[in-house]
Amino acid sequence: MLTRRDMLKLAAAGGVAGIVPLEQIAAADDPVPPAESTPFTAVMPIPPVLAPARDNQCDRYDITMRTARVEIIPGLLSTVNTYNGLFPGPTIVAQRGRAVRIRQTNELSVLTGVHLHGGKVPAAHDGHPTDTIAPGASRVYDYPNNQSAAPLWYHDHAHMIEGDNVYSGLSGAYLVTDQQEQSLPLPRGQYAVPLQIRDARVLSDGTLYYTRAQDRPHVLVNGKERPRFEVAARRYRLRIFNTSVDRPFDLRFADGSEIVLIGTDGGLLSEPVRVQSLLLGASERADVVVDFGRYAVGGSVVLVNAAALATENADVMRFDVVRTAIDSSKVPGKLAAVPPLPKATVGRNFVLAQDWTRGALINGNVYDPNRVDVQTRLGTTEIWTITNADPAGPPPNFHLNHSFHTHLADFRVLDRNGKPPAPTELGRKDVVRIPPGDTVRIAMTWSGYTGRFVFHCHQLPHSEWGQMATIEVV
Ligand code: C2O
Ligand code: CU
Repeated sequence: MLTRRDMLKLAAAGGVAGIVPLEQIAAADDPVPPAESTPFTAVMPIPPVLAPARDNQCDRYDITMRTARVEIIPGLLSTVNTYNGLFPGPTIVAQRGRAVRIRQTNELSVLTGVHLHGGKVPAAHDGHPTDTIAPGASRVYDYPNNQSAAPLWYHDHAHMIEGDNVYSGLSGAYLVTDQQEQSLPLPRGQYAVPLQIRDARVLSDGTLYYTRAQDRPHVLVNGKERPRFEVAARRYRLRIFNTSVDRPFDLRFADGSEIVLIGTDGGLLSEPVRVQSLLLGASERADVVVDFGRYAVGGSVVLVNAAALATENADVMRFDVVRTAIDSSKVPGKLAAVPPLPKATVGRNFVLAQDWTRGALINGNVYDPNRVDVQTRLGTTEIWTITNADPAGPPPNFHLNHSFHTHLADFRVLDRNGKPPAPTELGRKDVVRIPPGDTVRIAMTWSGYTGRFVFHCHQLPHSEWGQMATIEVV
């Protein structure tokens, strides 16, 4: 039997459009059942921050993509694809205005390509889908970091296998920091923790198996299935990344307690917003402060996913409050100056739809890397109206959602179905959820670099299936 990966290879080799969509491959094709796992057994690790070699010009890193055997579920070993053997990859911390140069070496047996998601990066270093690294080869990416503090992430983007590659482990956090952020009294050091949250299907033999979202019962945080994490009774800053290839998470504390949202995809908000839930589509990020000081030492609180299917366990992870600690942090009333966008001079419409015979479409088209779909002039501010033309369907309906993402330009969400955006959609964004029937308007300025950049659905089975297009900035 051909696996999905075989089919993708065939499609790529023959240039054939119309690969079989992930949604039409049931996990039942695989005879091995998913692994049982007991929640809150594994301890959540914090991916190490990679130490650069520094010189006058930049911070240099060498990263090797290779397979590794990791313990996602206690007692089982899974073979995954990694950056430097880590699942997820190491965290990179970049200073605004100081360039980062990363040499990526591909020791895997698949094509790869690395994109810095949310990065304002010249086209030649943006990890364009067809600008790939062959097995055995390496290449250098230069990131200028001329942008505000923001929770970016780096991940694979190789044409038509980005979903497979990201699912198999090729992603990591990339935190841009700046003086403005560092001047704020927010929790820092060991009290600032990234949570990279995704789903998975781990088979009882340990295999990390790529299949559609409704057949992925496991929830991983920083690479461990429903882990626990020991905290002090004080404030923490949590940078939450939805790194699932296509599942939205609606994250809440089981006791309904407050979450202070301080930033979104592209950086800090102008002021904090108090929320009880964080609805994050694929690749959206939320920067939050949580006060575990409201719990007694010895207590614990579970983070749950209110968007889990009725058949799924909603637990994501558990925070165990194990000690007291001095807390001089606070969340100031003013966080950052989010500059207003200039007045838009161009408007465009994009319709997202699926056609099981042709692919996932943008304005009726399947992605063609040789086609320029839209052109704009450097510095132009535009308003994009994006509609999901598919009707809502009963659960499991993950595939009916879209998660719209632009390279190069951050955007602001102007409105959703004519109404103001949700708190998690305030500020500087680079991904926005487009559920069935919704119309969302976003505005952005195409500045920084000329060249060809992609915009696409960040439900990666959709981008693999053609839901991607090219904007050329001239
Ligand atoms: Cu997060 Cu085009 O990617
Ligand atoms: Cu989509």
